[in-house]
Amino acid sequence: MHCPATYTCPMRVLAIETSCDETGVAIVEANGDETPRLVAQALHSQVEMHSAYGGVVPELASRDHIRRVLPLARAVLSESGASLASLDAIGYTRGPGLAGALLVGAGVACSLAAAIGRPAFGVHHLEGHLLSPFLSADPPRFPFVALLVSGGHTQLLNVADVGHYSLLGDTIDDAAGEAFDKSAKLLGLGYPGGPALARLAEFGDASVFKLPRPLSQRDSLDFSFAGLKTAVRTHALRLEGSNCEQPRADLAASTQEAIVDVLVRKSMAALERTGLKRLVVAGGVGANALLRSRLEVECKKRQARVHYPELALCTDNGAMIALAAAMRMQRGIAQMSTDYSFDVLPRWPLTALTEQAAAR
Ligand code: KG4
Ligand code: ZN
Repeated sequence: MHCPATYTCPMRVLAIETSCDETGVAIVEANGDETPRLVAQALHSQVEMHSAYGGVVPELASRDHIRRVLPLARAVLSESGASLASLDAIGYTRGPGLAGALLVGAGVACSLAAAIGRPAFGVHHLEGHLLSPFLSADPPRFPFVALLVSGGHTQLLNVADVGHYSLLGDTIDDAAGEAFDKSAKLLGLGYPGGPALARLAEFGDASVFKLPRPLSQRDSLDFSFAGLKTAVRTHALRLEGSNCEQPRADLAASTQEAIVDVLVRKSMAALERTGLKRLVVAGGVGANALLRSRLEVECKKRQARVHYPELALCTDNGAMIALAAAMRMQRGIAQMSTDYSFDVLPRWPLTALTEQAAAR
């Protein structure tokens, strides 16, 4: 496989991520069919701004992306020593995500691309998460099972190659990240809830509260976390008014244990069902230390390997979007917009990419 004829080697791609509450910009470079290399990246998190409201306020998110995106783009260009004109393409997150926030990244990316006469390319946010372990020191090889655990998605996928994803299991209600975030809220913890709940859980005893693990005994690889949230609510209400911290820490630990237990069991079942020996964990919840250590132990028992993105690349960032854009370009499957018109897809299933591939 070689660089598409219209690109010089090394191929240099800048990409912009603005799907939710992080503005990320990054540049990757690729030589031939080598895995692209991260050259520079910059990130601004809006967590502090939204924390006053207990969650993401979409209108504020869009406005902040507008303020941040060009200074971040200047910063990565300067860090990389590359000029805008030397870029071969500009990527942006096309979806899924918040419509207004996505439009900021798409608009800026297409404008920059038009300014230098290079193509712009809309990337699937979850494909970015899924491929992000390729930037780690211990990258996976295709094919693998992917456990995609972000704020809005919990999916198990059979990944044959870039753009070839078949769904093994999905959540029928809340995502794992949502279960962390909602439980954290019920425990009076701040936003984002996942890391806050994990911190409190360190002081708790996970065996104190018996919480449900829905669908865990069935053959299905689907997930359900709504029942867990209801159980956490019931216990949290009972704890209200108590001055004692320990039961809250115990509830946090029991909640984390229940979520991790389900994720690990289903991931192992997916490895068994597919016969694959590689598991990739991607998305914000992949930063959870208990999940990582449990998967490590269970995979070892099965002579399987587990791969993660670097910790800093678990949550949203520009590097994973630039990587996904470059990997698609290397395979000649990037759908470029050369007239600089653009749209965004706030709801966009990852498996739609496989259907596109089949239709080509
Ligand atoms: O992938 P991501 O940054 O954004 C989406 O694309 O949704 O994931 C954010 C999710 C949030 O639900 C957050 O609470 C969760 O990842 N998260 C964690 C941890 N760090 C982030 N959940 C559990 N433990 C963590 N250490
Ligand atoms: Zn994400």
